[in-house]
Amino acid sequence: MTESPYVIDDRETPRFRVRRSTMVASEILDEERRQIFDRSWLYVGHESEIPAPHDFRTRSVGGRPIILTRHTDGSVQVFINSCPHRGMQVESRPQGHGRFLKCFYHGWSFNTEGALVAIPDEASYGENFDRQNLGLVHPPHVASYRGFVFLCWSADVVDLETYLAGAADILDLFADQSETGMRVIGGTHLYAARANWKLLSENSYDGYHALTTHHRYLAMLKASGKDLQSVFRSSGGTPALGWDLGNGHAVIGGSDGSGGNNTGLGRDLSGPALVKQIARRDRFAELYGADWADRMFSGRNVVIFPNLALVDLIMGITIRTYYPVSPDYMEVSAWSLQPSDDEPELRQMRQENFLTFWGPAGLATPDDIEALERCQKGFAAHDQAPWSDISRGMVRSRPAFNDELQMRVFWREWDRRMTGTVHPLEGPALPRSGRLALPYVSANQ
Ligand code: FES
Ligand SMILES: [Fe+2]
Repeated sequence: MTESPYVIDDRETPRFRVRRSTMVASEILDEERRQIFDRSWLYVGHESEIPAPHDFRTRSVGGRPIILTRHTDGSVQVFINSCPHRGMQVESRPQGHGRFLKCFYHGWSFNTEGALVAIPDEASYGENFDRQNLGLVHPPHVASYRGFVFLCWSADVVDLETYLAGAADILDLFADQSETGMRVIGGTHLYAARANWKLLSENSYDGYHALTTHHRYLAMLKASGKDLQSVFRSSGGTPALGWDLGNGHAVIGGSDGSGGNNTGLGRDLSGPALVKQIARRDRFAELYGADWADRMFSGRNVVIFPNLALVDLIMGITIRTYYPVSPDYMEVSAWSLQPSDDEPELRQMRQENFLTFWGPAGLATPDDIEALERCQKGFAAHDQAPWSDISRGMVRSRPAFNDELQMRVFWREWDRRMTGTVHPLEGPALPRSGRLALPYVSANQ
């Protein structure tokens, strides 16, 4: 038994419990900001969102406004969107293009590397004016992995790849899906939920809730003629399991062995499109081996601690981040990721699903939000009903995708950061092993 004020991790019974006050207390959120959001690598965006020099995007990362730009030399830059003069947000548009960023207040101008390049009437500052040190401030750390850009607000952090641990392999599974590069296309979904941010980490890889929370969606698919049995049946691949990826990251997924003939919950591809999709899978099998190609084409849900979720259901890939505004309110941003050389029919399906399945008014997300908001309402009685139970699958040596290992992985890291309590691993963490060497999981494990 490992126990903190917030998490009881009992391996004997076994039983895993989390105290619901962690979802409502403002002191907890203050501490989360210090111990988690200020000390983790946080997702900023995808390099494809700023394809050309002088493109920019603005957003908020870890509670601070930032600008993501591509500089003249092609480098990706991130700096704080606050003017060194008197603090104004230099750029207010969510995205745009321009060689210079000019502050609206008094007209200071910066280049796409953040350097201060022009000040109206600079002479009034005198000869000793140090323009070099009045550029836009960069976060202590910015790094990219396979096109995914991250920052850390603390100087004291391990390098990004070390932080990602086994999750780097999972990002490879996304990045490898195109020989011409993955790209974020379309717009951004921005929505909010009256729920604690951690509930969306839990929900993003919750394989347990699909059949109940989303039963109407599944009924609709069935009524439209979709063969749901074939979606959930493994055709010679490996079963979908939950995996600890180290450092609080976890994934659910498997390898269905369908050879490219799988659109998940999406509609079936037409003959010619299916032929092309199978050819793509065969091409990737040549490049990376059949095991890796099968995994790529089988989808997965991963949460990179604390608040980056990537969900690949084949019929679409969504990237989402979410931040607390208060203990019971979060803001969510979501993007659609696609192979830039995708088969056109599949591309269209993926874009449609980004809107109609994952969208804030889609067929899945409102059901999830409803569930999360009603959990939050239940937490009002946390004094009387203090514990949530997250034990499912603890009795199995290989927890399945619809067990709750992945949430326990999240909470053990959360507890380590918040209280210093070290919970032993439940099973082996999937190490970073490199795409060519990695058998995901053999069916007989
Ligand atoms: S605050 Fe930006 S120029 Fe004054
Ligand atoms: Fe859901």
